[in-house]
Amino acid sequence: MFKVLEQRMIVPNIHLLRLEAPAVAREAKPGQFAIVRATEDGERIPLSIADWNPEDGTVTIVFMNVGSSTRKLAALKSGSSIPTVVGPLGNPTEIGLYGTVLCVGGCYGIGSIYPVARALKAAGNRVISVIESRSSYLFYWEDRLESVSDRLIHITRDGTKGYRGHVGRLPEIIKSIEEPIHRVIINGCTFLLMRGSDVTRPQSIPTVVSLNPIMIDGTGMCGVCRVTVGSVTRFACVHGPDFDGHQVDWAELLQRRKMYITEEVVPLRTSRCEEHAIRS
Ligand SMILES: Cc1cc2nc3c(=O)[nH]c(=O)nc-3n(C[C@H](O)[C@H](O)[C@H](O)COP(=O)(O)OP(=O)(O)OC[C@H]3O[C@@H](n4cnc5c(N)ncnc54)[C@H](O)[C@@H]3O)c2cc1C
Ligand code: FES
Repeated sequence: MFKVLEQRMIVPNIHLLRLEAPAVAREAKPGQFAIVRATEDGERIPLSIADWNPEDGTVTIVFMNVGSSTRKLAALKSGSSIPTVVGPLGNPTEIGLYGTVLCVGGCYGIGSIYPVARALKAAGNRVISVIESRSSYLFYWEDRLESVSDRLIHITRDGTKGYRGHVGRLPEIIKSIEEPIHRVIINGCTFLLMRGSDVTRPQSIPTVVSLNPIMIDGTGMCGVCRVTVGSVTRFACVHGPDFDGHQVDWAELLQRRKMYITEEVVPLRTSRCEEHAIRS
């Protein structure tokens, strides 16, 4: 069992989960994920490792409450335990000396891009972080990102902070930076990854996206996380989750992510009682 040290909502619908998982904390690297299960009979879901401390054996995850499994996690109390935390899984994000790197994060990706930005900064890059949300009150970890970035840029749908709009504003942002951008790394929802890749393609800026297809085992055995990248079939859990955003077959990914949408609604209807049991 893995002890829940902290579980709280940090901004509406986004939660921080800090767990005691020494083996994961010892090996974790930026860009990797863990498979987590809230209850013995629950489903296994992949969640990025947003921070870790090998000394005290803790792992921090930032998750968005979107369905039945994340809802169960959101009901956990500090001091309780969960049965499964498997990881670190997936390949770490490639960290090199590129020059100036744009680290783009939206929703849960604001959390998962943080260790990537930190490692890129430590490797000697100039790091410009760009975070996107619907409104300014949905930003979190700005202090952490500021501490590892040369500049922090905001985009909000409602224009309450920084640029108004969404990741489609990236070309203007890149133009305003007045220095060449050598690499863009994007973490967050599929729309953000896809739109971000679309707008960097005409400028031929290498763009790395952390894909989030549906996963089951996370170790290359089930084939559920199949994606097509550059006309080649890849399993996101073992070949990724990072891929060249300009090569991803986005239409297929979007369609495959919707595969169980009807089934996903059913446990949501019945999960109220389970949540009550977890909370009490
Ligand atoms: C490598 C990787 C890292 C991820 N990191 C994070 C993270 O740090 N924080 C975060 O909030 N989310 C992350 N996700 C997405 C997260 O796994 C899903 O939001 C979660 O599984 C939804 O489960 P649910 O039962 O609450 O919602 P559901 O009701 O099952 O589904 C809601 C939505 O989540 C998608 N989804 C469902 N099951 C999975 C699954 N097993 N894998 C991927 N997507 C699924 C569905 O297509 C649907 O759009 C990551 C996904 C991957 C593949
Ligand atoms: S999750 Fe099963 S092969 Fe990737």
